[in-house]
Amino acid sequence: MSTIIREPLEGSTTTHSETFEEIVQRRLSRRTLLIGALKAVPLLMLAPACGPSMTPAPVEGELEGGCSEELAFEPITLSNEDRVIVPRDYAAQVLIRWGDPLFPGVSTFDVYTQTPLLQTQQFGFNCDFLGFFSQPYSQNPSPGLLVVNHEYTSGTEMFPGYVPGSPTKDQVDIELAAHGVTVVEVERRMGREWQYSLDSSFNRRITGETEIDITGPAAGHDWMTVSYDPTGTRVRGVLNNCGGGKTPWGTLLTCEENFNQYFANADSTSDPQKRAVHSRYGLPTGASERRWEQYYTRFDLALEPNEPFRFGWVVEIDPYNPQFVPKKRTALGRFKHEAAAVVLAPDNRAVVYSGDDERFDYLYKFVSAGSFHQTSREANFGLLDTGTLYVAKFDDTGSGQWLPLVYGQGPLVPVNGFSSQGDVLINTRGAADLLGATKMDRPEDIETNPVNHKVYCVMTNNTSRTAPNGANPRSPNRHGHIIELTEAGDDPTALTFTWEIFMLCGDPNNPADGAVFAECEPGDVSPISRPDNITFDGCGNLWIATDGQPSSFGKNDGIFAVPVDGSERGCVRQFLSGPVDTELASLEFNTDFTALFASVQHPGEGGGLANPTSTWPDSTSPPRPSVVAIVKTDPEDPVIGS
Ligand code: FEO
Ligand code: CA
Ligand code: CA
Ligand code: CA
Repeated sequence: MSTIIREPLEGSTTTHSETFEEIVQRRLSRRTLLIGALKAVPLLMLAPACGPSMTPAPVEGELEGGCSEELAFEPITLSNEDRVIVPRDYAAQVLIRWGDPLFPGVSTFDVYTQTPLLQTQQFGFNCDFLGFFSQPYSQNPSPGLLVVNHEYTSGTEMFPGYVPGSPTKDQVDIELAAHGVTVVEVERRMGREWQYSLDSSFNRRITGETEIDITGPAAGHDWMTVSYDPTGTRVRGVLNNCGGGKTPWGTLLTCEENFNQYFANADSTSDPQKRAVHSRYGLPTGASERRWEQYYTRFDLALEPNEPFRFGWVVEIDPYNPQFVPKKRTALGRFKHEAAAVVLAPDNRAVVYSGDDERFDYLYKFVSAGSFHQTSREANFGLLDTGTLYVAKFDDTGSGQWLPLVYGQGPLVPVNGFSSQGDVLINTRGAADLLGATKMDRPEDIETNPVNHKVYCVMTNNTSRTAPNGANPRSPNRHGHIIELTEAGDDPTALTFTWEIFMLCGDPNNPADGAVFAECEPGDVSPISRPDNITFDGCGNLWIATDGQPSSFGKNDGIFAVPVDGSERGCVRQFLSGPVDTELASLEFNTDFTALFASVQHPGEGGGLANPTSTWPDSTSPPRPSVVAIVKTDPEDPVIGS
């Protein structure tokens, strides 16, 4: 990778002293530790597909709803090939690449003649979250809109002759334009591949310069004001949009993650309270790696000490309205949001789960005060501005609590630096520290399984952990794990929950990894490391994209699937292998599960344009971050999943 920071900074360490063996034995006593030799992975029988149209008819080997207990693909194996590999009977195609034009008349991408204006009209860099939106709110007959985050840029991978630490203004402007979000209409015409529409009126780019509203309790707060916005309610751009989510009212939630890397000179902040908050969020004390502050004073804290407080939020966008002004929803807290997964409670309040992707940081959920309106879409647009933010505290015996982050309650009072709810939200991390939340192993994606209603929380890895706790039982945690959380009464607004570890990732053939995959035989499990983003197929099987297998296995990242119920619970199998030095940053099914979209982020990262380690997807330099569409090749059996 380039000099740009992608991995989070170190945090504080826990002092828990229980050994890994004690915790695993206690938490997984009914599970089988996979420490034996890995046999050859058998080819799975193709099982009948499950889809929305199938009627429930449970028979032996099936789950409720006509879903097979077995995954319906032949697993592939880890690879170092510079291509996308999928199982037999599936096909992968490139749908859209960095630089592809999104509007008629925009020039074809050329890395040697790129301009800031062109980049605002093209697909951005380093695609991440994918959200597929069908058309319930529009008269357009096309299958759907694909919404894509563009998380970050790498000058060495984007510009011939780039000098790290000394970018030109044009290069900085291209990078700002390559950040943000793309909305693009996509469709699959009969008998053809998926393609995007160049002339759709829905196509849109949101960048690091787009005007964005700030809403909720922190809007207008003193710390949210800057010289170019004395009201504290309007900010220029979104940055480092990593994961995301979709609301039941058809909007996108896009999440700002590692925003700290864009700012410089935190030690110049004169207010010690602000300086302490900047430090807790990892802002550089001196120059930034990117050096954008050379051209834009808003990135220099010596001149604009408040600008970073306006980043690190969840941003709501209406993909069906290209004129919609995006909203930073401050009620959901400020931290390095990986994703924001929305589910409706039985009483129709909206609940949003979100993890703070930093070593030793926390899991959160927001519960709206108001309820979802079934009949008026617009009535839901303020739903995420009022409600309660909670942080998770896991005990070591399999239960846990959601602790409210509410001004005036507990330690969140003036003597501790909190004089309003805006203070609590701007310094969410500091508030959660005071409440004694559980320090986690870099929370990445969190999603509620629509079939069994349990919440799956992905801890990607934490190589700095020296002392385990129950929910983070390995030290160091090289391979990551997935926690299965059950809200009390299956109600996502509950204040208590139970939990168990669904999967301790690693190579089942390597006892040193301490991998655990429920009760599966070692030969039925694919090695998997560093889980990141997740989704579910129509049968509730968990699909996992990884980020970091080159570091842990020396093999490319990929996509895996795993049943969460039935006799195959925990038996994870590899479905896709990505090109060299890519991360599979996101994965998303379309509405009827006949396509799986995957974000192939940063192919060849670290090699630079002169000596790229990958030439994917065009067998030439530059490699280009791209979205791929995966389909089954049998038109009679098109549904992906078990
Ligand atoms: Fe951008 Fe947490 O991954
Ligand atoms: Ca991620
Ligand atoms: Ca997800
Ligand atoms: Ca990651």
